[in-house]
Amino acid sequence: MKINVLFTHTSIEELFFTGKTAVVIDVLRATTTITTALMNGAKEIIPVNSIEFAIKFSGGFGGQTLLGGERHAKKIEGFHLGNSPSEYTHEAVNNKAVILFTTNGSKAIVKAKFAENLICCCFNNLSIVAKYLVQLGKNFEVVCSGTNGLFSLEDSVCAGLLIAEVIKLNPAIELNDSGEAALLLAKQYHKNILKMMEKADHGKLLIENGFSDDLKYCAKLSCYDIIPVFNSSSIKALPHAEIEKLLAN
Ligand code: MLT
Repeated sequence: MKINVLFTHTSIEELFFTGKTAVVIDVLRATTTITTALMNGAKEIIPVNSIEFAIKFSGGFGGQTLLGGERHAKKIEGFHLGNSPSEYTHEAVNNKAVILFTTNGSKAIVKAKFAENLICCCFNNLSIVAKYLVQLGKNFEVVCSGTNGLFSLEDSVCAGLLIAEVIKLNPAIELNDSGEAALLLAKQYHKNILKMMEKADHGKLLIENGFSDDLKYCAKLSCYDIIPVFNSSSIKALPHAEIEKLLAN
């Protein structure tokens, strides 16, 4: 199984992903928020790559659809929810669709939309995603959302930990250079993920904006058995029965 890590995706064309398996990571906070929303009963998450499109698109839905997301880490004016996972409670999102715009994460997901299999990963669901990828048995691209086109430490460490988890289940892995580097970063930082995020660029920005609890939440490792899967235009949780099968193996 071959695993490629993309530390950023800005120079990659959408068509690059056609027919591939892609795992998008935006630990702080889009893929953590998506995982949380689905765990709390959200029907689907519709990722979009512009605020204008989010607003236009929301006009076509009824009252069961929420607008969520951030700009400069803060809730967007007129939106129901920001991008803090703490807002995506059962009361807020159960049975609802959420149209989500975020600066980097939702854009990375939209970029990879032509992938045959497109999965969202974060620290919270890392172990179950690794099991799923091993079961799929296909080569895959790990897409780090990064920060404004630049490398981000937390996404890269998460990519490395995901690879380490996959290797535990299937040691016959071939990595590109970024994959080797991600694995080294994971070895360096896995013992204190929260500390790593507190000194990361985006972590610092979130702390400055009053979101230090989000960092604690996003640092929790493999606490949810939720696999967010993108299909045609929205992200849904992989059905419970399939998760049960994965857990049984
Ligand atoms: C992003 O997509 O850039 C992030 O999720 C931003 C954030 O919520 O802090």
